[in-house]
Amino acid sequence: MQSISSHPIGVFDSGIGGLTVVRALMERLPFENIVYFGDTARVPYGVKSPETITQYATEITNFLLQKDVKLLIVACNTMAAVAYQAVKDISPVSVLDVIDAGARRAAAETHSRYIGVIGTPATITSNAYARAIHQHDPGIRVFSQACPLFVPLVEEGWWNHPVTRLTAQEYLRPVLAENIDTLVLGCTHYPLIKPLLQEITGPDIRLVDSAEAMADITAHLLADRRLGNHQRTQPKYRFFVTDVPYHFQTIGEGFLGRTLSHVELVKL
Ligand code: DGL
Repeated sequence: MQSISSHPIGVFDSGIGGLTVVRALMERLPFENIVYFGDTARVPYGVKSPETITQYATEITNFLLQKDVKLLIVACNTMAAVAYQAVKDISPVSVLDVIDAGARRAAAETHSRYIGVIGTPATITSNAYARAIHQHDPGIRVFSQACPLFVPLVEEGWWNHPVTRLTAQEYLRPVLAENIDTLVLGCTHYPLIKPLLQEITGPDIRLVDSAEAMADITAHLLADRRLGNHQRTQPKYRFFVTDVPYHFQTIGEGFLGRTLSHVELVKL
């Protein structure tokens, strides 16, 4: 029988955004098998109701549990913000989420204790980041801004497009008017436009990318629970999507810098 440590890590998002977490995991944990789920037929989630998002998150969790994952990573702030408990309730394996990872890193890195958070409308309305940051330091002031147009622009591949730049300038203006020294990219799609965002904020504002924070937390959890894959062979990466995979594959291969040989269309 195969030991559980060689089972894959399950990572999921509404679309391609969670690939930012996958890339960080591939770099930090190069021997781990990964199963990724991107709900490309139903993206974006961030403008949908908590009930709908919870239903989708539950369906995806059940799908990934059937793939015998040893750990689940909610690589979508929107699902983590409104459906984390629902996912945890049905999961026999540990569940990590990007909000906790990003909040922890932002609270540790700020000096001014003024933090900006950008995310989807569902994430910002849930107030999940402010709550998570205040668990680490209740004295931090959090300034939030919903950026509903970013996800479609990123899914379109417009990562350095004048329209995206103009949109970002507009969205960031209110948070930049505060004295923030740290800006949390509270959506896993946003690291894809990180260089553009950093140009707008200027170099003095630290951008917290929860994908990187998540890879560190995953590495610690696997080490603590002795769940790290001992096999030093080429890992298997499998990707499941709900809409025709062509677009996902093209964007994903460009971003991950490798051929995605196993991308499968599934119906939930
Ligand atoms: N990438 C997701 C997040 O981190 C959600 C994007 C969306 O579907 O609206 O919030």
